[in-house]
Amino acid sequence: MSTHNVWTHKGTFLLAAIGSAVGLGNLWRFPYLAGENGGGAFFLVYALCIFAVGIPILIAETMLGRNSRRSPIMGMRFLTRTHKTSRSWEAIGWLGGISAFLILSFYSVIAGWAIHYTWQMLTGSLIGADIEGIATGFDALLASPALLTLYHTLFIAASGLIVGLGVHQGIERGLRVIMPALFVILLVVLAYGVTHGDFPTAVDFLFTFNIADLSLEGWLEAMGQSFFTLSLGMGAIMAYGAYMSGEVSLTRTAIIVAIVDTAVAVVAGLAIFSLVFGAGLDAGQGPGLMFVTLPLAFAEMPAGALIGGIFFILVLGAALSSSISLIEPVAAYLVERFDLTRPQAVLAMVLTTWALGLLTVISFNLWAEESVFHGLFGYRPFDLFELLSNIFMPLGGMLIALFAGWALTQSEVVKEMGTNGLWFSTWRFLVRFIAPAAVAFVFLHAIPQVGG
Ligand code: PFF
Ligand code: NA
Repeated sequence: MSTHNVWTHKGTFLLAAIGSAVGLGNLWRFPYLAGENGGGAFFLVYALCIFAVGIPILIAETMLGRNSRRSPIMGMRFLTRTHKTSRSWEAIGWLGGISAFLILSFYSVIAGWAIHYTWQMLTGSLIGADIEGIATGFDALLASPALLTLYHTLFIAASGLIVGLGVHQGIERGLRVIMPALFVILLVVLAYGVTHGDFPTAVDFLFTFNIADLSLEGWLEAMGQSFFTLSLGMGAIMAYGAYMSGEVSLTRTAIIVAIVDTAVAVVAGLAIFSLVFGAGLDAGQGPGLMFVTLPLAFAEMPAGALIGGIFFILVLGAALSSSISLIEPVAAYLVERFDLTRPQAVLAMVLTTWALGLLTVISFNLWAEESVFHGLFGYRPFDLFELLSNIFMPLGGMLIALFAGWALTQSEVVKEMGTNGLWFSTWRFLVRFIAPAAVAFVFLHAIPQVGG
């Protein structure tokens, strides 16, 4: 049953895709992973993946959504039927669904940290604080399962409400303000970093490409991050593509999303690393990087409490527009498949993910060092979920590339791409051969190292 309506506005898909792409992945995850993996080499692999693998797959994933006009699982089922290919391609939908639960479960906990800092900023409690004070405060936040659970609950409830009430169309207007404002305020932080931090070292760190610096696990993390940051390979883009009008250019849209997303990550990275090196902090300190570094800058800068408050509110807006795109594919599936109402579907997804998120909550305190879980899997739950998302998203993307490259007919693809010229052949070559081979290459080298 295809009950999807099409977004009336031509620009809506672009805005929704940017809303999904730009989020904690750019501001929190990119700097922390780059910092842990030596900077430049990580950035090089990440950027290569975005442009040679990410963009072609972004086009492919949007195409599958628009062509099927269904949620990912039902959409893949539909496409395998109409193309008389194996039903096992439906795995793309299932894998995406699993990734959505995993990612949202930790995404929501981290977004909760931003709620905490919004509060801290607006109440002025960090004005004039020094690095010790801020680090202690962050450790205290992580040490409290109750506080982390509270924020996690607030964030996931807000995300669920938006999707459940079907008001995310209304988000459109909000995004038109939030995204540019976020970028501007990042530039303000960067300017502060340039004048008060160590910008040259930050540039060196991020753009000195010494590929030997990168461990094999670092390769996996860089590739995984390129998919994560574009919301790619797990059905979010497919679900949004299902609502996309037939006239919009897939290529143009994909390139804009990739450029905007990369720009936000680079500005955030340069700002954060300028501050890190200026204050003599450790770039490889892990997931806390942004949440220790930026409050320090806000504590010192004039009107910092206000600027910091606005900054974290915008971060929350960006995170919400990403988290709703994690709920959408699963909720749309439950509605299509089981005839649930939208609120019921969202409730089912959100409650399960909320519970799963508790494992991330205790990864920072009760189970931070050792636990049954750690004993079984060799990782804290949070690290395992991150690792799995680094594997599942590229895997999903690889399957999407193969399906779009080999199972769709040439004429259909030409119709979707609106061209059969040089760009079309380039794209087809990339999704048929290069993107799958690149993912396979990284998997074959890196996965045997994982945990070792
Ligand atoms: N792209 C988002 C970010 O960079 O924050 C994270 C994300 C959203 C990943 C939606 C996957 C997804 F489906
Ligand atoms: Na992103």
